[in-house]
Amino acid sequence: MRVLTYSNYDEMSAAAARMIATRIAELSEPVLGLATGSTPIGMYSELARLHNEEGLDFSGTTTFNLDEYWGLDPDDPRSYHWFMKEHLFSRVNLDPAKTHVPRGIGVDPDAECERYEKLIEEVGGIDLQVLGIGMNGHIGFNEPGSDPNSRTRLVRLAQQTVDVNMAKGALDSLPGHALSMGIGTIMEAKEILLLANGQGKAEIIRRALLGSVTRDVPASLLQTHSNVVCMLDEPAAKLLDLS
Ligand code: F6R
Repeated sequence: MRVLTYSNYDEMSAAAARMIATRIAELSEPVLGLATGSTPIGMYSELARLHNEEGLDFSGTTTFNLDEYWGLDPDDPRSYHWFMKEHLFSRVNLDPAKTHVPRGIGVDPDAECERYEKLIEEVGGIDLQVLGIGMNGHIGFNEPGSDPNSRTRLVRLAQQTVDVNMAKGALDSLPGHALSMGIGTIMEAKEILLLANGQGKAEIIRRALLGSVTRDVPASLLQTHSNVVCMLDEPAAKLLDLS
């Protein structure tokens, strides 16, 4: 794993956006895996800027989001469909037919997960998967204890995850379940970009990067992937001794 540290959030976000822009330019039909949450918001803003000011062209790019709350309509502002529209899809020239987020309502969950896995397979897999990390080490919504071979499925969220996400969004309620790509699905991505910022992530980043590889810290399983770049701001890197 390559660990890159930046002095602040904006620099980390700009570097992450540059890496994505490079892959979009290099690959003829790029397939990106995308995350929601507070961490990638700066990266999405920078991608929108690169599109508007430097002509970064998303028209040939396909995207797959990691997860969606179970029971939320895409038009619900709490949904990850909404988040993606707000932060990226409405700001760049992605083809709506090529942007995929699991459907969290009005579908049979097992059939939806199977459909999602097939879609990823049909386009030849994910070239670059962007990940954030939960306070408990989750990646996607694969909570501690998740099977390293898991595929896209309906998952129960840890209470801590629901509480943290409600607090971040100043929300009164969020579903306790979600559809999430599995750890096996994520690990099949050809390249992974793990992002974390802020001092609150320092301890879990230390455990994920330097601790033992265990399903109790799902992000630690990334140590076994051959092509991971981890971008951190200084506060998140504080407990790593990189000397
Ligand atoms: C989001 C996702 C989650 C978040 C994680 C960190 O699609 O799958 O794993 O990446 O919860 O969230 P933030 O960035 O809000 O700290």
